[in-house]
Amino acid sequence: MICISLFFFASLYVFRPSFNHVNLHRRPLHAEQLLQTCADIKLIPGPPSDFSKRTESDRWVPGTRATLIVNATVWVGRSEGTYESADILIDRGLIVKVGHVVAGDLPKKYDVINANGSWVTPGIFDMHSHIGVYSSPELRGAQDGNSLVGPINPWLRSLDGLNTHDDSYRLSIAGGVTTSLILPGSADAIGGQAYVIKLRSTAERSPSSMLLEPPFTMNSSASDPLLPHRWRHMKHACGENPSRVYGYSRMDTQWSFRQAYNEARKIKKKQDEYCEKIEAGLWNDVPNDFPYSLQWEALVDVLRGKVKVNNHCYEAVDFDQQIRLTNEFKFSIVAFHHAHEAYLVPDLLKKMYGKPPAIALFATNGRYKREAYRGSEFAPRILSDAGFQVVMKSDHPVLDSRFLLYEAQQAHYYGLDHDLALASVTTTPAELQGFGHRLGYVKAGYDADIVIWDSHPLALGATPKQVFIDGIPQLEKPYTTEKPSGFQVEPKVPNFDKEAEAALEYDGLPPLLPSKETKSLAFLNVRKIYEKDTAIRSQFVTENGQLGTVVVVDGHIVCKGLETQCGQFMDDPKIEKIDLEDGVLAPGMLTFGAPIGLVEIDQEASTKDGVGFAPLKQPVPSILGSGFLPKAVDGLQFRGRDTLLAFRNGVTKAVVAPVHSGFLGGLSVAFSTGSVSRLAKGAIVKDIAALHVTIVDSSKQPSVSTQIGLLRDLLSGNGEGPIGDYFSKAAEGKIRLVAHTQNSDVIATLLDLIDELAQSVDAKIKLTIAGGAEAHHLAEELGQAGVGVILTRPRPFPTNWPGKDILPGLPLSSEGQVTRLLAHNVTVGLGIEESWQARNLWFDAAWAAIEAGGNLDKETALGLVSTNLETLLGVDVQTQPDLVAWKGGDVFDLSSKVVAIVSGAKGLVDIL
Ligand SMILES: *[C@@H]1O[C@H](CO)[C@@H](O)[C@H](O)[C@H]1NC(C)=O
Ligand SMILES: *[C@@H]1O[C@H](CO)[C@@H](O)[C@H](O)[C@H]1NC(C)=O
Ligand SMILES: *[C@@H]1O[C@H](CO)[C@@H](O)[C@H](O)[C@H]1NC(C)=O
Ligand SMILES: *[C@@H]1O[C@H](CO)[C@@H](O)[C@H](O)[C@H]1NC(C)=O
Repeated sequence: MICISLFFFASLYVFRPSFNHVNLHRRPLHAEQLLQTCADIKLIPGPPSDFSKRTESDRWVPGTRATLIVNATVWVGRSEGTYESADILIDRGLIVKVGHVVAGDLPKKYDVINANGSWVTPGIFDMHSHIGVYSSPELRGAQDGNSLVGPINPWLRSLDGLNTHDDSYRLSIAGGVTTSLILPGSADAIGGQAYVIKLRSTAERSPSSMLLEPPFTMNSSASDPLLPHRWRHMKHACGENPSRVYGYSRMDTQWSFRQAYNEARKIKKKQDEYCEKIEAGLWNDVPNDFPYSLQWEALVDVLRGKVKVNNHCYEAVDFDQQIRLTNEFKFSIVAFHHAHEAYLVPDLLKKMYGKPPAIALFATNGRYKREAYRGSEFAPRILSDAGFQVVMKSDHPVLDSRFLLYEAQQAHYYGLDHDLALASVTTTPAELQGFGHRLGYVKAGYDADIVIWDSHPLALGATPKQVFIDGIPQLEKPYTTEKPSGFQVEPKVPNFDKEAEAALEYDGLPPLLPSKETKSLAFLNVRKIYEKDTAIRSQFVTENGQLGTVVVVDGHIVCKGLETQCGQFMDDPKIEKIDLEDGVLAPGMLTFGAPIGLVEIDQEASTKDGVGFAPLKQPVPSILGSGFLPKAVDGLQFRGRDTLLAFRNGVTKAVVAPVHSGFLGGLSVAFSTGSVSRLAKGAIVKDIAALHVTIVDSSKQPSVSTQIGLLRDLLSGNGEGPIGDYFSKAAEGKIRLVAHTQNSDVIATLLDLIDELAQSVDAKIKLTIAGGAEAHHLAEELGQAGVGVILTRPRPFPTNWPGKDILPGLPLSSEGQVTRLLAHNVTVGLGIEESWQARNLWFDAAWAAIEAGGNLDKETALGLVSTNLETLLGVDVQTQPDLVAWKGGDVFDLSSKVVAIVSGAKGLVDIL
């Protein structure tokens, strides 16, 4: 004791003269921990170095049987090619071997699946999903994707709002989706932290147990050096969404970003200085505690390069400010999402701090708001040609992620390379988000997340035969069909070089009106003509099925057959000629269900007709008189981009009802999509097509029973003014009544109602159901009552409660809704919900035919989008039908595209 004290004093004495300058340091008790923290903050996340040697997955569920898949055609990932007749052994949640599996490789017990040559790909990774945070069916109690407390929330976590009861998990898995990045919404500039989950259910049934490689911050505020250092993910948004919620302009949003990053930068600086000092042993110069902020730590991690920042950002002005932000604060954005203008500004994007961002896109969904107006179907190929990584994403439930592969199929159709299209929903998102070591490839050592497809995955309608997540088969009793050999090879697609160039040349707004009109034209090398009467029939152009010539003059076919047989026309030097290269002529299609022709940009009020009065909810101004009923024809707009894109894809007519928010719809109009104004010849096909009512749930209107009661009243002749007149006409069967509803109970009530009215007031109501998600429950009754259905969601989805009870179709049910209804002689039409979807009508019809597994021929499928719709909407007027010229293949083949349209009413051919 004494000695020590003496030594202490002695030391003090000896060193006293320089006391203020020497390193006599207080070394705190938690010094090691602090030094560890300083080491940790410098780490860049990634798998442990021995990760590839793992023998079981951290997500392996003990008891899962091993599976041997034999004779698979394996698309390995990215550009790693394809194995034919390969075996895949999966065990303990991992892919153990791909290639030739021998007896010695096999565990004691395993299941065998003979793939019979089927295509196998890695599981689909949806890089932009809100599954679970915006619930499906949509219920107020589970809408947790957006905080509306303030624009900057790096401290929020999507995981905290993840609803485990979402109907979408099961459906999306049935589309091959195995992994999703769950992003917060875009109402805020910094929406919060995003989490990567696997979609399968877990024994624990918790959100946390769905996480893939949860970051260390899950259970504690500080880093745990014993855990691997893992990637974090975050959502940013710029442009219209964050700006509008708080009454912000883009300037305000950007300042909120800069303020937030400045805060994070200050903390980071303090931390770095702190670490520099303690690493030099200067413990006296620092306070006891590490400068840490629970609130800002995630944003500090962004500055440390530990976070994959995903940014919802559309147009040049927004990319520009965000890229300046990355350069000011020195961090990188892994991907711009939506990014409808990205293809126009590659040089700008390359100025990002770090490295250029990937671009996550929709294939054809666009124009729904101003910043999406210049979106192009050619963006994926243009961007990938410019060296950017391209991802296709769902924004689920904006698009149903069950059909995310369809986005890749469309991108491929419009020119994206085969491997890059497949990688855009598998390898590319996996690698971008930091999971390239375990997801996105069918390779030994990777997670056993794989899909066996019933066709080539880029063939339209590709459907899983089985889906594995962590080696667990997800489809208990999959319903499958065997598809013809034509579906088993990479689809041949048309050439769209000129169209892609035009998109760039015109800054995203290439002219969509036909480039040329002509009165006489010869189509060469035509295989077939589909003709329209009450149904569709097809015939070869020549007697023996050889390719032939079809000559059209003044909108009529004047000659068809071998070229020599049409010699008299062919010799005319003025006649235009188009080589259809084994193409066909088919009737123009009709679209219904979206406000096409009444709306140009959905979120811009000045671009649209607007919403009519809802008399059950609000007073109608007395100046309108009693019983006012709007007519869509009075608000019609021509030359809209969605309208013209529909035209260019063979949809030559549209029926649109007035936009309404409640019960009373009004009178629909049928018009020609390719007309320049309502005064043009043939522009208005029928000024009053049908009478529309919508039975909506009580979140939007007084009770359903009130709406039905009102309908009964009006159809019984108790209405006033025009409302009274048109409902009386509907009761007499002089105008078709189209009732919009998804719900089977409402449909049943309506069937009862028309029966009841037929007895009491001798009504002869011609009823059509539009919506119809649950109509399949009443297929027999609808068939017997002669009531047809327009499915406004051709591939069903449980958007809301009244329509939640869908018939999902393959692989979850043996029949789809279309086949079920057709089997009971219900007249079925395929509709849409949003205007941009009109252009894809032929994909929808093709899909319905493919799903029916050979039980629905092309003629019937064409009927679903033409003759049936005409019947169901009261536009079965016998005008000279339009004929669409498809080049490069049959109608509905991915090899073909529309090149010209013969207009019966105009007596002209429009050359596109
Ligand atoms: C392969 O063919 C067999 C025999 O037809 C069939 O039972 C099996 O389901 C097929 N496998 C797949 C993955 O389609
Ligand atoms: C794989 O399946 C295809 C399609 O059924 C068949 O033609 C081929 O012979 C099979 N190959 C092997 C190695 O069994
Ligand atoms: C968090 O704690 C729970 C319960 O102990 C554990 O199951 C989970 O793996 C932990 N997560 C992380 C990321 O450490
Ligand atoms: C549908 O119509 C066909 C032809 O009229 C008839 O043979 C068939 O029995 C009908 N099917 C049903 C389920 O009513």
